[in-house]
Amino acid sequence: MYIKEIKLQNFRNYREEKVSFNKNVNLFLGENAQGKTNLLEGIYLNVLGKSFKNVRDKDLIMFGKDFCRITTTHVSAGEDHTTEIVISRDGKKGIKADGVKLTRTSELLDRLFMIVFSPEDLKIVKEDPEKRRRFIDRELCQIKSGYLSDLNDYRHILKQRNAYLKGDRIDMDMLSIWDSQMDEYGNRIIEKRKSFIKKIDKISCEIHNKITGGKEVLELKYEPNEFNPALVSEDLRNRNTGHGPHRDDFRISANGVDLRKYGSQGQQRTAALSLKLSEKKIIEEEKGEKAILLLDDVLSELDNERQVYLMNSLGENQMFITTTDIVGKVARNLPEGKVIKIRGGEVTVEI
Ligand SMILES: Nc1ncnc2c1ncn2[C@@H]1O[C@H](COP(=O)(O)OP(=O)(O)O)[C@@H](O)[C@H]1O
Ligand SMILES: [Mg+2]
Repeated sequence: MYIKEIKLQNFRNYREEKVSFNKNVNLFLGENAQGKTNLLEGIYLNVLGKSFKNVRDKDLIMFGKDFCRITTTHVSAGEDHTTEIVISRDGKKGIKADGVKLTRTSELLDRLFMIVFSPEDLKIVKEDPEKRRRFIDRELCQIKSGYLSDLNDYRHILKQRNAYLKGDRIDMDMLSIWDSQMDEYGNRIIEKRKSFIKKIDKISCEIHNKITGGKEVLELKYEPNEFNPALVSEDLRNRNTGHGPHRDDFRISANGVDLRKYGSQGQQRTAALSLKLSEKKIIEEEKGEKAILLLDDVLSELDNERQVYLMNSLGENQMFITTTDIVGKVARNLPEGKVIKIRGGEVTVEI
């Protein structure tokens, strides 16, 4: 499975561009702020239906334009498939797969599998729980059909309950209706996260052991935050829902030490890398297909040893890698592939 081509129209700083890709390695080379990450974002959008950045769809449209269109062609089992996404200023988004209009974004999810490695991802371990939840959620959305809608249902109920708690008059019977729904939808999420973390715990421990040359035993432990109706008085006081899977976390420890709080930067990054490589392994096992990998400025963040390890582990997948540096140490560790030069939203040279 690989992406053969992308066409961009009014997308971020790309006015009109067509780029064809190598089925193995594609290196996006350019100075800062030229459009390397934007191009990755366009690829990701057409695979997962939304940006990997926390932005509104309409932010993807070129400044001053009314709409953007992104069309990709990918090859699966020897056949070409197209995906087209059009976003308009009013926020409407139309998605077509092989020319057929989709009713839900989630229908896209089963066609291609994608993993992003970004400097943000290297912070999964050290930053706040929200980052770790997003990591789990993104993975589960790709491997468990129905998870995205469980998540949306839960968020919907949570939002309604919070709005109700902020209202003037609160009827306890009414609140208990939200509560039982919170409980039901929340538990669906917790069950799926529980089994996922158990799985990734095992796999990441093996990977981490290899990266650290046997020095560190990595352990992940789910810290679920079950919805608790007994705490309703607290919620009434705070006018907000204080418990439930929207507050979940998981503990990441090495040799028994909680890396979230006490890990060195190097340990935290290595653990994050182990998690990302585990994510890749799990997706590929579940789907029986290779994932497509996006690496946004990560290589320069890793030391030589970890760069080599990463490149060796990723070898056979289609990869899109951004870098500002082709002659320096990063390039020495890269496999052969196509070099795509990017400047000011234009692809200037393809080698
Ligand atoms: N909606 C948009 N319309 C036009 N330009 C945009 C839009 N969003 C971002 N940009 C421009 O894209 C550039 C950043 O591109 P990016 O891909 O992040 O750069 P890099 O090559 O460093 O990864 C900036 O110059 C920014 O102004
Ligand atoms: Mg960038």
